[in-house]
Amino acid sequence: METMKAYPSNSKYINPQHYYHNRTVLVDNYLKRSPNPVSLTQLAQYYDDSTKLTRTKIINSGKFVKGELVIRIAHKLDQLQQLPFNVVNNFHFVQVYESYYNIFESFRKYPTIRTLEDASQFADFIKSMLEGFNTLNLPHLIMGALECTILNLYPREKMDELLSDLLRARISRRLIVEEHVSITANYTSGKRENTLVLGDIFQECNAKKYLLEASEEAQKFIQDMYFKDIPMPEFIVEGDTQLTFYFLPTHLKYLLGEILRNTYEATMKHYIRKGLEKPQPIIVTVVSNDESYLFRISDKAGGILHDDENLWSFGKSKERAQESLNNFHKLPGLQTVSIYDQVHSNTNYSPKSKSIPPMTLKPYMHTSLEPMSYPSIINGHMKYETPLIELLKRSFRYKLGIGLAMCKVYAEYWNGDLSLHSMPGYGTDVVLKLGNLMKHTEKLQLDKV
Ligand SMILES: Nc1ncnc2c1ncn2[C@@H]1O[C@H](COP(=O)(O)OP(=O)(O)OP(=O)(O)O)[C@@H](O)[C@H]1O
Ligand SMILES: [Mg+2]
Repeated sequence: METMKAYPSNSKYINPQHYYHNRTVLVDNYLKRSPNPVSLTQLAQYYDDSTKLTRTKIINSGKFVKGELVIRIAHKLDQLQQLPFNVVNNFHFVQVYESYYNIFESFRKYPTIRTLEDASQFADFIKSMLEGFNTLNLPHLIMGALECTILNLYPREKMDELLSDLLRARISRRLIVEEHVSITANYTSGKRENTLVLGDIFQECNAKKYLLEASEEAQKFIQDMYFKDIPMPEFIVEGDTQLTFYFLPTHLKYLLGEILRNTYEATMKHYIRKGLEKPQPIIVTVVSNDESYLFRISDKAGGILHDDENLWSFGKSKERAQESLNNFHKLPGLQTVSIYDQVHSNTNYSPKSKSIPPMTLKPYMHTSLEPMSYPSIINGHMKYETPLIELLKRSFRYKLGIGLAMCKVYAEYWNGDLSLHSMPGYGTDVVLKLGNLMKHTEKLQLDKV
């Protein structure tokens, strides 16, 4: 009950003063400004049309990131405030809200960036923000959506829209922030040249290598679910097998990972259900042209068995959402620690010891909200989008019902799409298309706030 009141007792932001603060600061000031749509090239070059990394560019980058992030997060706060009270006051959503408010306040009050040292300190500050409780926003967002679906607090279509929207904004914010961290690190280590698109965040990815890795991962999960020596389907990569292209490694890994998990699982279930001699092969066809890259993942696993109108929805049906939520609570590393415990508790939590300070767990002890463990991500090194990769590590036993919905958001973000063609009784083709980023560098990609 402690966490369900209108003003959580430990909250720094959601308290009776919040309303007035909100009016004078957020509404009257920041919401009047619009975010700047940015293209990837602009982000990489900071408007001086060159790839040279200069002191001025690093400083300008810092100034831009600080100003831009405050405005972007302000608009998301506003969007959350417009939700029905029961929704934004949901245990998980309130964590996200509080964390966004925390970002808003911290960035807003951050001193003006004037020198290279300022910009460099600012990069460290952003890194610490990303490594902190914000890593839990992704699971909290999804769990919040599941709970609201289960409780009928918000129509499913609108919830899907809200989530996709918040996720897209999250991708854009992270790109903006990561770019500053990346070019600052490059500049201070003596590098004077930035690549055309976003320093180190984007990399040349070998399509076949990523496919084989995702397939190996999926096989491990299959062995874990059945037994070690279970026969595996043949995995064949055809078409443009030599393809390499610039992309965000974590996003590519996540997309192929989720899709192949589904394919492998369906193939193995079909093999067992039909008592086949061996599992049917999985064939991936890679095709590319100037505009985009396409992966067609074909299986002969009997197609989608039941008509599921909620296939692309987060959490699917109410019943599925309940199962998924239960599974979320079982996921190691992606637990439901409350931001209040971490940010506002007085206990000396040492990041080195993984044990949980007993006091901080008190409000959730013996409830479904009891945390599993402290996130490994807090102790580990920050890599771009760690929370996303953490999601991929879940066992097949823990279905979350979010795979296709998440992949659609990410594929569409990168000017692509995801579709599924099921032939009941035969098999399924999943088609993932990703835009060629080098073709779209002038596109105002990061306007998706
Ligand atoms: N290749 C496939 N063959 C048959 N059914 C499939 C295939 N791909 C997806 N499906 C069906 O689509 C459903 C939705 O997939 P989705 O990845 O969105 O969620 P999930 O796999 O159930 O849960 P998770 O969030 O853990 O991925 C699956 O439950 C499965 O029934
Ligand atoms: Mg799935």
